[in-house]
Amino acid sequence: MKNYDQIFNDSYERIMYRGDQGDAFFSHFYQSFSDSSPEVQRILAKVDLTRQKLMMQRSLYMAMDFSSSRIETETIKKYAKVHGDKGHAIPLHLYDIWLDTLVNTVRAFDPKCDLEVELAWRLVLMPLIQYMTAEQHRT
Ligand code: HEM
Repeated sequence: MKNYDQIFNDSYERIMYRGDQGDAFFSHFYQSFSDSSPEVQRILAKVDLTRQKLMMQRSLYMAMDFSSSRIETETIKKYAKVHGDKGHAIPLHLYDIWLDTLVNTVRAFDPKCDLEVELAWRLVLMPLIQYMTAEQHRT
C-alpha cells in the first residue's frame, strides 16, 4: 500500500538536506515561475525573493500540516488574505502554473523523482491551494 505522505516526506528530505536547506531549489523555482509568464514576472517584480524563499519553505510545512490536519491556522488564514481579492488578488490560473513549476523543480532536484513522487507533491499541496483560492472560486 502506497503512503503518499511518506513518499512526499522522503522526497522533501532528499531536496532540503542537500546542504543548502533548499536554497538552490527555491531559487530555481522562483526563476522558473517568473520565466513562466509576463504576468507572473510583473507580480514578482516587486517581491523580495530572499524573504519569499524563506516564506515559501515555511509554507511547505504549512501545506504538509494542513493536508493531514485540515485545521485552519492563523498562518494559512494570512496566506489566503495576502493572495486573496483584498491582497494581491492572485488569479486562479496562476496556481496551476505555480504547482506545475514546483513539480518540475522537484523533478530537477530530486534524483529519485518519478510519477509517484510528483503525485505525492500534488496531493500534499492541493488542499492548501484549494483553501487559499476558496474565495476566488466563490466569485
Ligand atoms: C499554494 C500556492 C502558494 C503558496 C503556498 C504561497 C506562499 C506564499 C507565502 C508564504 C507568502 C508570504 C505571506 C506573508 O507575508 O505572510 C506569499 C506571498 C506572496 N505570494 Fe505566494 N504562494 C502561493 C501562490 C502564489 C502565486 C500563484 C502567486 C502569483 C504570482 C504568488 C505571489 C505572491 C506575492 C505577490 C506575495 C507577496 C509578497 C510580498 O508582499 O512580499 N503566490 N506567498
